[in-house]
Amino acid sequence: MKFFIDTANLEQIREAQDLGVLDGVTTNPSLMAKEGISGEENILNHYKKICEIVDGDVSAEVIATDFEGMIKEGEHLASLHPQIVVKIPAIKEGIKAIKYLDSKGIKTNCTLVFSAGQALLAAKAGASYVSPFIGRLDDITTDGVELIAQIVEMYDYYEFDTQVLAASIRHTLHIIQCVEAGADVATCPLDAILGLLKHPLTDIGLEKFLADYRKLNS
Ligand code: G3P
Repeated sequence: MKFFIDTANLEQIREAQDLGVLDGVTTNPSLMAKEGISGEENILNHYKKICEIVDGDVSAEVIATDFEGMIKEGEHLASLHPQIVVKIPAIKEGIKAIKYLDSKGIKTNCTLVFSAGQALLAAKAGASYVSPFIGRLDDITTDGVELIAQIVEMYDYYEFDTQVLAASIRHTLHIIQCVEAGADVATCPLDAILGLLKHPLTDIGLEKFLADYRKLNS
């Protein structure tokens, strides 16, 4: 399974990259706003900076919601850097834009996906990734991980190439549940990735090893 980091924070992206396990980055307008990035030029420069830090795909979201606007913005975003993947919302005009961008060889990530039906249309249109938001489904007492499993099964059955990118991951257990559900990618906050390392027996064991070493070597 691939790991993407879900942030526009350059420090956190660097920290995840330094860990050596990072496969890409996802951003969205809210994450960009959280970092105080505004104005078209600053936003585009920020995407370029992210691409310079990581080796893998970097999702950059369109703001337009009409077909013409989305493809214009998408083509511009894709021209910024070869690692850019254009993020398009799962709406009618978005599906058309995904189809168009795919025909031009531009990678897309269909975002704000909350149902198998949306994921089906995204895959048929040729999306490179589909992003079901599991945390937001959990927020409304609907099992987000179950949706991941449903989409994985559907894509396997019909042999779609679209990768299932589990998004809106809120904690470490979500990551493990996405592994079990067969997600291709999990995009996570840095804390959730680092949380995978936490185990009290590791800490206790390491402390004991070092104490035993020090007894004879100090
Ligand atoms: O990957 C999508 C993500 O940024 C949304 O997360 O926590 O706002 O639902 P959240």
